[in-house]
Amino acid sequence: MGMMRSLYDRHVLPKVLNTLMKSPEMTRIRSRWVPQVSGRVLEIGVGSGLNLPFYSGDAHVFAVDPSEELQVYAREVAKAHGTQVEFATESGETIPAENESFDAAVITWTLCTIPDPFAALMELRRVLKPGSKVVFAEHGLSPDARVSKWQERINPIWQPVAGGCNLNRCPDVLFAEAGFSFDEIQRGYIAGPKFATYTYQGIACLM
Ligand SMILES: C[S@@+](CC[C@H](N)C(=O)[O-])C[C@H]1O[C@@H](n2cnc3c(N)ncnc32)[C@H](O)[C@@H]1O
Repeated sequence: MGMMRSLYDRHVLPKVLNTLMKSPEMTRIRSRWVPQVSGRVLEIGVGSGLNLPFYSGDAHVFAVDPSEELQVYAREVAKAHGTQVEFATESGETIPAENESFDAAVITWTLCTIPDPFAALMELRRVLKPGSKVVFAEHGLSPDARVSKWQERINPIWQPVAGGCNLNRCPDVLFAEAGFSFDEIQRGYIAGPKFATYTYQGIACLM
């Protein structure tokens, strides 16, 4: 089972994720928020690099993600779009950077998967300069009891097949608990099955 899991995680899941995360609505969300940050930008969980085409020309991206397999895709996207990116095969819980060394951050569809999302947000807080903006788009727990009941039920089956993704996290609560406030936040379903598409998107900030 361990061997099966690792073959699946390393060879099947990267292709599936790179395809699933490209839906027209997700691409529209990326194109709406990502251009709003510039300077030295940290992206946590860069994955296959689907945000990379949307950075402004003056963004220098430091991309942290433990997946070497997804980084292969992300490097191709960076090259194709001329995005300035430095990659670090690391976890969001241990960001290899100095305190207050970034101007902004981007995190999309990743808080669901990071094993300790609160630790990652505290790390993010450590490495961001005061006043920084964090662009985010994350799926999470639905406020509709009929949906959230199923999210809780399906989660134990979903998590191992979806690379560790959780359906029942509350990104807004996590940001607030880590000391962020919101310049802008929108909540609502996007296209797709309700259990995986209740989306929190906007800009969190650090005072
Ligand atoms: C659903 S994918 C989203 C990828 C990308 N952010 C996007 O918007 O398409 C979740 C990502 O979280 C990454 N991830 C898993 N554990 C992580 C961790 N501890 N720290 C940072 N990223 C992590 C995975 O490797 C994967 O790239």
